[in-house]
Amino acid sequence: MGILSNNLANKLPVIHVVMVAVVMLSSIVYGAGNFLEVFEPTFGGSRVRVFGPGNTQLALTLDRGSGSGFRSKREYLFGRIDMQIKLVPGNSAGTVTTFYLSSDQSTGRHDEIDFEFLGNVSGQPYTIHTNVFSQGQGNREQQFHLWFDPTLNFHTYTILWNPQLIMFKIDQTPIRVFRNYENEGIPFFPKVQPQRIYASLWNADDWATQGGRVKTDWSKAPFSAYYRNFNIDTSINGAWRTHDLDANGRMRLRWVQKNYMIYNYCTDWNRFSQNLPPECKKYGV
Ligand SMILES: *[C@@H]1O[C@H](CO)[C@@H](O)[C@H](O)[C@H]1NC(C)=O
Repeated sequence: MGILSNNLANKLPVIHVVMVAVVMLSSIVYGAGNFLEVFEPTFGGSRVRVFGPGNTQLALTLDRGSGSGFRSKREYLFGRIDMQIKLVPGNSAGTVTTFYLSSDQSTGRHDEIDFEFLGNVSGQPYTIHTNVFSQGQGNREQQFHLWFDPTLNFHTYTILWNPQLIMFKIDQTPIRVFRNYENEGIPFFPKVQPQRIYASLWNADDWATQGGRVKTDWSKAPFSAYYRNFNIDTSINGAWRTHDLDANGRMRLRWVQKNYMIYNYCTDWNRFSQNLPPECKKYGV
C-alpha cells in the first residue's frame, strides 16, 4: 500500500499535466461546436444543411436558384474565431465562399473583417481575399494564393481580433496582420461595434474569377462548401487578447507575403494615385 500510493503520488503530476494539455488542445484545435446552438441560417433555405453527430458539420450549397449562408446568433466584441472549411472542388469558377465578421450593416457605418475564397476553373488556384472595414469604409484588401489545395481537406481559417490587431491565419500560419494605429493618429480600426460571424456561398461570376471573364459552369451545380470544428474564444484571460507575432510567426508571415501574396492595397499606386491610405504611407503594411 505504501509503495502503491508512493507511485501514484509520483505519477499524479504527470497525469495532470497530460490531461490539461489534452483539454487545451481539444478546445483550440477541435472545437467541434454545435452549429444549431450557435448559428442560424441567413438565406438559401434547405441549402443550409447541418449534420453529423452533435450537429458539428454544416454544408452550404449553391445552385441556379440561390446560394446560402449562416450567421452567429450572438454578436462578439473581440475574440478568436477558428473555422475549418473545405472549399468547392473542381470547376468552382464564379463561386465565392466566405467566412467573415460584420457589425450591423444597416447603420451605413459598419465594421467588417473578411475572408473570401474566390473559386477558379479546375486546376487553377483559389484566390484568398481579405479586407477590413471600419465605420463603413473598406479598401484594405490583400489577396493570396495558397500553398495547398483547399478543396481536398478541411483547413483551419482563423480571425483573431483584439484591441491592438487583427490577425488572419490559415492552419496557424499568419497571412496578414492589420494593426490599430489609433495612438499614432490613424483612426482606422474596428473596435466599438460588436460583430457577428457570417459564412456564405454565392454566385459572383460578374466579378470573382479573373475579373468576371470566367462564368459559373451551372452544369456542375449544385456546388457545396463544408464547415466544421468551429471554435469561438472570447474568454477574458484568453491568449488571443494579447496575441501578437512571435519570431516564428514573423518568419511565416514573411514567407507567405513573399511567395503567395498576389495583391496588396498598400502598393496599388494606380488605384490610390498619391493618396495611399495613411497606414501604408507610415508603415508600408
Ligand atoms: C485563377 O487562375 C488564374 C490563372 O492561374 C489566376 O491568375 C487567378 O488569380 C486565379 N484566381 C481567380 C479568382 O481568378
